[in-house]
Amino acid sequence: MNQKTLLDLAKKHGTPLFVVDHAELRKNYALFRKHFPRVQAYYAVKVNSDPAIVETFYKLGGSFDVASIQEFRTVYQFIAKLPAKQRQDFIWDKIIYANPIKPIETLEELDQYKPLVTYDNHEEVKKIAKHAPHAGLALRLRVPNTGSMVELSSKFGALPGEAVDLIKDAHDHGLVVEGLSFHVGSQCTNHENYIQAIHLCAGIFAEAKSRGFNLKLLDIGGGFPAAYDATVPKFSELAKKINHELNRLFPKEIEILAEPGRFLVASAGNAVSKIIGKAVRNEKLSYYVDDGVYHTYSGVIFDHCTYHMKSFKRGAPQMCAVFGPTCDALDTISLSEQLPDLPIGEYLYSENIGAYSAASSTHFNGFPPAKVIHVNR
Ligand SMILES: Cc1ncc(COP(=O)(O)O)c(C=O)c1O
Repeated sequence: MNQKTLLDLAKKHGTPLFVVDHAELRKNYALFRKHFPRVQAYYAVKVNSDPAIVETFYKLGGSFDVASIQEFRTVYQFIAKLPAKQRQDFIWDKIIYANPIKPIETLEELDQYKPLVTYDNHEEVKKIAKHAPHAGLALRLRVPNTGSMVELSSKFGALPGEAVDLIKDAHDHGLVVEGLSFHVGSQCTNHENYIQAIHLCAGIFAEAKSRGFNLKLLDIGGGFPAAYDATVPKFSELAKKINHELNRLFPKEIEILAEPGRFLVASAGNAVSKIIGKAVRNEKLSYYVDDGVYHTYSGVIFDHCTYHMKSFKRGAPQMCAVFGPTCDALDTISLSEQLPDLPIGEYLYSENIGAYSAASSTHFNGFPPAKVIHVNR
């Protein structure tokens, strides 16, 4: 997004400001569809659950990965007025509840919608059979997350060796397992994670078939990396490798799903903050700005992500620290940013901050989350 527009918006609306560019959302969605023509894209709502973002993907014909009842409701509001049959078809065809562990209350509310849900263990089978017997199932597998920025395999996923027993378990409880799902870890730049996961799934499809269970869908999850910097391998190369293996190992009638999150929204988010204080700490020029890691920069903590701070003004760059506004020393955006010497009241901004940022912003220390502005809707 161009600097002048960002600065004008900050002057008009005040800071901290979080600007979502919907033209960029549409561009990323189109790119994903272009490179994965066989794959149905379910936007992972958790990445940024702003209804305006959900609406943009809804209008593009997108599908949705929800992982809480609130996320389900956020999507549901767009289909609430559809005729009953169309609404039900949408839920079955275009929503996956992709959290393997679900509260009983959530299952009870979801059951009326007959959704597709993921699971990865025996206790969950019992819960689903009792509280959401109309749900369809996808078994979430544990797959290598090697080198991914955010690791997920330590928390979720059945071991490949127990997969078919868990499919049988669901069957014995009167449930239908439609297919398999996995997640290679978020911001996955190691293409081998996808390849190994797809190979594992092909093996489980074959074993399941030999034991009388015909799986119909494969959900390759999220993990598609945002192009934060030049070290991130090309998306087209990743897509080429994945498509090759999918087409080689899974016949056309197998439905392929994905749950891209970061890839779709990271580059659509921009943050603008104002310098509210300035000091020299440890011989380093240190800026205090009105946004921080308890707010839009929460990804520094939760997402293990680094964001660069940029200045709208030119000047000789020097190594600076940038801190958030709260009283906690953890509220450190960066200890090494190349910035000019700027006066209090000047603005700083970050690009590529659309994913896992505003989504986990808090009200800590009395500072509210940044104001959100949508452009190019
Ligand atoms: C089940 C599931 N699907 C999809 C996503 C989105 O992943 P990403 O943002 O890496 O595409 C996540 C992220 O945690 C997830 O847990």
